[in-house]
Amino acid sequence: MAERSPGVAVVNEERADACVQGQLCQDIERVLISAEEIQGRVRELGSQINERYAGKDLLLIAVLKGSIVFIADLMRAISIPHEVDFLATSSYGASSTSSGVVRILKDLNEPIEGRHALVVEDIIDSGQTLAYLTRLFSARNPASLEVVTLLDKPTRREVDIDVLWTGFSVPNEFVIGYGLDFNQKYRNLPYIGVLKPEVYEPGTE
Ligand code: PRP
Repeated sequence: MAERSPGVAVVNEERADACVQGQLCQDIERVLISAEEIQGRVRELGSQINERYAGKDLLLIAVLKGSIVFIADLMRAISIPHEVDFLATSSYGASSTSSGVVRILKDLNEPIEGRHALVVEDIIDSGQTLAYLTRLFSARNPASLEVVTLLDKPTRREVDIDVLWTGFSVPNEFVIGYGLDFNQKYRNLPYIGVLKPEVYEPGTE
């Protein structure tokens, strides 16, 4: 058998197997972006980041919690020296839609003044979170401030934001996995999937 990377082998076997009762895959309508596609795109993004920030003081800023899986893979796809920091935000109001009001639950540990800051997001929906963070970080005078997001839902945008790199553009469906959650679950799935509506709207099955 041809040698495969451990991550790819696990994913292929999992997808080939019937979904066993009690596993998260039961709640998935379909796989929108496979683990292999994600890993390929992350490698491309890593190369582009290497080129743009060579010789610069690069700081990756992950917005918790959704971006944990993405930044863990992205930082390993980046071969130039860099640091990481974390910020936790929360929007008030309904859990599956953004209210436009952003709270900082945990601020960065380090100042970003004079540094090249790259914000790492899992998904941009209304754009409210990034619009707020862009204002917040710009006021701290970084040498540069850019955004890389794994996913973008452009049809949901309420405010304009500049995004340097987007992994994938996705339709307006309930996507979970690879860091993205519903009720804090499903973040551990290695792919981006579409959640069955009966999971988040009981009674629709
Ligand atoms: C999600 C996502 C972004 C934000 C995008 O975070 O990680 O930060 O929403 O939405 P917006 O463009 O409409 O502002 P969420 O508040 O769900 O928290 P989580 O990352 O901890 O899951």
